[in-house]
Amino acid sequence: MKVDVLLGLQWGDEGKGKIVDVLAPKYDVVARFQGGPNAGHTLEFDGIKHVLHQIPSGIFRPQTKNVIGNGVVLDPIVFKTEIEKLTKYNLDVRSNLFISKKATLIVPTHRLLDQAYELAKGENKIGSTLKGIGPSYQDKIGRQGLRVGDILSPDFQGRFKKLTDAHFEILKKHDVNFDWLELEKNFLNAVEFLRQFQLIDSEYFINQELKKGSSVLAEGAQGSLLDIDFGSYPFVTSSSTVTAGACTGLGVAPRCVGEVYGIFKAYSTRVGSGPFPTELLNEEGERMRKAGNEFGSTTGRPRRCGWIDLPSLKYSIMINGVTQLLMMKADVLSIFDQIKICTKYQLSNGKITEEIPYEVVNEKITPIYTTLKGWAVPLTNLSENQIPEELLKYILFLEEELGVPITLISTGPDRSQTIHRTAESI
Ligand code: GDP
Ligand code: IMO
Ligand code: MG
Repeated sequence: MKVDVLLGLQWGDEGKGKIVDVLAPKYDVVARFQGGPNAGHTLEFDGIKHVLHQIPSGIFRPQTKNVIGNGVVLDPIVFKTEIEKLTKYNLDVRSNLFISKKATLIVPTHRLLDQAYELAKGENKIGSTLKGIGPSYQDKIGRQGLRVGDILSPDFQGRFKKLTDAHFEILKKHDVNFDWLELEKNFLNAVEFLRQFQLIDSEYFINQELKKGSSVLAEGAQGSLLDIDFGSYPFVTSSSTVTAGACTGLGVAPRCVGEVYGIFKAYSTRVGSGPFPTELLNEEGERMRKAGNEFGSTTGRPRRCGWIDLPSLKYSIMINGVTQLLMMKADVLSIFDQIKICTKYQLSNGKITEEIPYEVVNEKITPIYTTLKGWAVPLTNLSENQIPEELLKYILFLEEELGVPITLISTGPDRSQTIHRTAESI
């Protein structure tokens, strides 16, 4: 069997959590391959909303095994809180959650360093979630990080002290206040908690599952435009959010990748700093934010909103090898009589292009729009054969431009508000 990959094509928050939960019954294994507690993946069913940060979004499906892969950075404190929040749902997390021993540990000083580095950047701050993502990946790449498997070592406390002492040296130069005794106590307590879980060699686990015919869904976090290599650097996260990241983040070979589900909102949002060509800094943007409830699932920050951006989507589709597109939050655009679609960029020298320029951070990009008539009717509880004509036109326009079929339309946050477009209807 192959590993199907589901990932965001924009700047995160596309609705990955909802769709992983929707698709999970089809899969034996759901595996997160990168990112950490910066992610906030929302699932809604039975009138309850759940936000997951590090636990894969297949956790509510009892038949699905959930894996936190080696590419993830794991904060034991956040993990403990997440598991405790799930207690009342009687999920069997001790038997259907598996954590890679090779996942990197986020220690409390990583969060402090994140804060210190952002403060030092001043106006140029990344707008990080301050969960310790950048500093923990820095230690991983710098070959001094701690990994989940290290918590089983009798020498763990010594290694923890060595790493945090190195961090204190850096923190001395910054103005960050903290109560170390408290932070350390919470961390070691959470590490004790983490020890009760199944810590595994997840690359063997996943490949053995594939060999015996199990289906595997790799769950991405963040979005392709926040990728460390291909995003608008330095306004990015610190991991590989693209399909290739699923290979390194889980230990699966490129030839094992099957479908690549590229998920996108029917418009665009971004939280944190960095370029956003189609951003609406006006009343339309406000209306979009309100209708889409665009406030961060992890930090509660208002998300920046704007029209859909096809040059960016084409770029993400290219980098990821997307085979199916999933369009989210179509219902939010019901508030507009006209819908704009950015098809090209005009650069400051007058050049018109469909490519993201290298200087995207400093370049003044003017979007060139095509305008379509809006559907202007609520879409809640819609079925496939009730798709309004204008929405269908929007879908067909995007498919034509992007060259990939849109096989799913989401019309609300609930699991049930999902329309699968079958091969016959496409
Ligand atoms: P993720 O990080 O990609 O999992 O996305 P988030 O959970 O951070 O943000 C998506 C938000 O949109 C959540 O609040 C979801 O409940 C909500 N959502 C998902 N799909 C839809 C949809 O089709 N329509 C509406 N209105 N909300 C949706
Ligand atoms: P999910 O998985 C949206 C953004 C932050 C910031 C930048 C770097 O829910 O889609 P970091 O904390 O990684 O140092 O922040 O990336 N960011 C996200 N934006 N959704 C996310 O995750 C994000 N994770 C990080 O806002 O701009
Ligand atoms: Mg999110």
